[in-house]
Amino acid sequence: MNVLRVLANPKPVEKSASLKIEQAFMEALRARHPDAQVETIDLYRDEVPLIDEKVLPAHFGAPPADEETARKMARRGAILQQFMGADLVVIATPMWNFNAPPMLKAWIDTVLVAGKTFRYTAAGPEGLAKGKKVVLCIASGGVYEGATAALDTLTPMLKTQLGFIGITDVAELRAPGQGSGGDKAKASTAAAVAQARTAAAAF
Ligand SMILES: Cc1cc2nc3c(=O)[nH]c(=O)nc-3n(C[C@H](O)[C@H](O)[C@H](O)COP(=O)(O)O)c2cc1C
Repeated sequence: MNVLRVLANPKPVEKSASLKIEQAFMEALRARHPDAQVETIDLYRDEVPLIDEKVLPAHFGAPPADEETARKMARRGAILQQFMGADLVVIATPMWNFNAPPMLKAWIDTVLVAGKTFRYTAAGPEGLAKGKKVVLCIASGGVYEGATAALDTLTPMLKTQLGFIGITDVAELRAPGQGSGGDKAKASTAAAVAQARTAAAAF
């Protein structure tokens, strides 16, 4: 099994609920699959080139405008290949302003590529990344359920983007209520960590 860890958090793991969930999941997964090939992309430490004025035309097939753009396109290609090679993708992310940190969106903009992970057919768009599984490890300050559920635009966004490229097997491990601090936040993280250990048994 090829596993890709996608870390979308500038914090160290000791200070991050989403990274603690991811760590617990990976520990349990590694114990079950000692032969798993694991790669990591740390979106706040590894380069993820943004789609800018020069990258945009190159993204649509124009020759790179200069050496720097060619280098960025090569890096984007390597990130896409890394994703394509994974059977299981584990994404750890905080909720920021009801959505994703910008580097996670930058990664999404790198791996959703027409002709690679999706294509347009006469019958409509078709996902080409079918068969991959994704585990989302999400922490948020608030609790979004019932009347406030719609404020969470992070989970629906990720599920829409993943679904568009054919990935429908998406597990969610979440530690909400971190904003309350103290024992409540610790209990939420501990519950999600325990759930992560159990969830790993399904892989
Ligand atoms: C820039 C920023 C924006 C945030 N926006 C939200 C938000 O919209 N809703 C929310 O519930 N929590 C929000 N939070 C709180 C985080 O989601 C919370 O601290 C969570 O524990 C972060 O995950 P982590 O512990 O893995 O870093 C925000 C935190 C930061 C730093």
